[in-house]
Amino acid sequence: MPKTVLVSGGAGFIGSHVTVELSQAGYDVVIADNMSNCDETNYEGVCRILGRKLPLVKMDFCDSAAVGRLFADYHIDAVIHFAAFKAVGESVSEPLKYYRNNLESFLNIVEEAKRQGGCNILFSSSATVYGVAEKLPVTEQTPRQPATSPYGNTKQICEDVLRDSVHAYKGVRGIALRYFNPIGAHPSALIGELPRGVPNNLVPFITQTAIGKRECLSVFGNDYDTPDGTCLRDYIDIVDLAKAHVCAVSRMLDGRMKEDYEIFNIGTGRPVSVLELINSFEKVNGLKLNWKFAPRRAGDVPAIWADTSLANSELGWKAERSVDETLAAAWAWEKHIAGRN
Ligand code: UFG
Repeated sequence: MPKTVLVSGGAGFIGSHVTVELSQAGYDVVIADNMSNCDETNYEGVCRILGRKLPLVKMDFCDSAAVGRLFADYHIDAVIHFAAFKAVGESVSEPLKYYRNNLESFLNIVEEAKRQGGCNILFSSSATVYGVAEKLPVTEQTPRQPATSPYGNTKQICEDVLRDSVHAYKGVRGIALRYFNPIGAHPSALIGELPRGVPNNLVPFITQTAIGKRECLSVFGNDYDTPDGTCLRDYIDIVDLAKAHVCAVSRMLDGRMKEDYEIFNIGTGRPVSVLELINSFEKVNGLKLNWKFAPRRAGDVPAIWADTSLANSELGWKAERSVDETLAAAWAWEKHIAGRN
């Protein structure tokens, strides 16, 4: 009997890629999403890639009764929780929206796991929990810094909720994956990132500028203490990232966890500057991007990248795709979307 994995936020950017990889690895996937930040494009793309329809339950994880019904309707072996708001700037201007949504939805899932007498929970955390780290690259042991945004704080609080709950409630197990910067799109170009309005993140802004939706990319800051003055990040291919979830879920379901709560960094281990990323994008796709330097963006850390040894050895997972391949996929996806409109 295949095991069933519930993917909250499964119609979104990361959730849709994870759904594809889980399904292709033989898991039954139930997608649940309130569609508040996406349409059905990625869901339809997932079904096309897989050649079959997956269950899509439209519901809000802040509704505890709906979460209860979901667990009554399906025998769920593991939950991967993506359903959350994710705009850092908006979280600063609307903190209550973020605390209410991101905490309540996760509390409802953990509560239900407890009520079920146990469940495996994978929480999508973020490198943001490390803040300005004292030493780079960061390992899972690197101390977390006080969060600089309500968004970042919800990631830290949810990690703590999971850690404390696995210790208190029998049968509840958890893994937190701390993502670095997920970018790119599925090689089929049928699923990818679909930001609403002006993109906050670098790669969607680059692809939208290249296609002519945006006039010019602003590179935020050129006076950082880094080799070329622009920020360094660890850009992880979305399909590689999705595969890490399959490794983590199978580790939980096959009883291979060493502790009931584990944390893994999911990145490439390679720092890439904003200018290097732009150069790669131009080179691999054979085009010129319109960009200019602009002042630093508030809240940006100068540099962060992952030590991925723990994920490599314990999950048996490693990032495989090059930044060039990933940026080619991101561009193919942008063109797919433009052709559709
Ligand atoms: N950048 C630009 N121009 C843009 C957008 C971004 O120069 O238009 C730069 C940023 O200054 C940064 C780099 O590109 O140096 C990456 O920025 P992103 O917004 O793509 O990613 P961040 O590293 O800021 O964000 C990530 C995650 C968030 C998380 C945040 C916390 O996407 O979920 O890290 O640091 F909260």
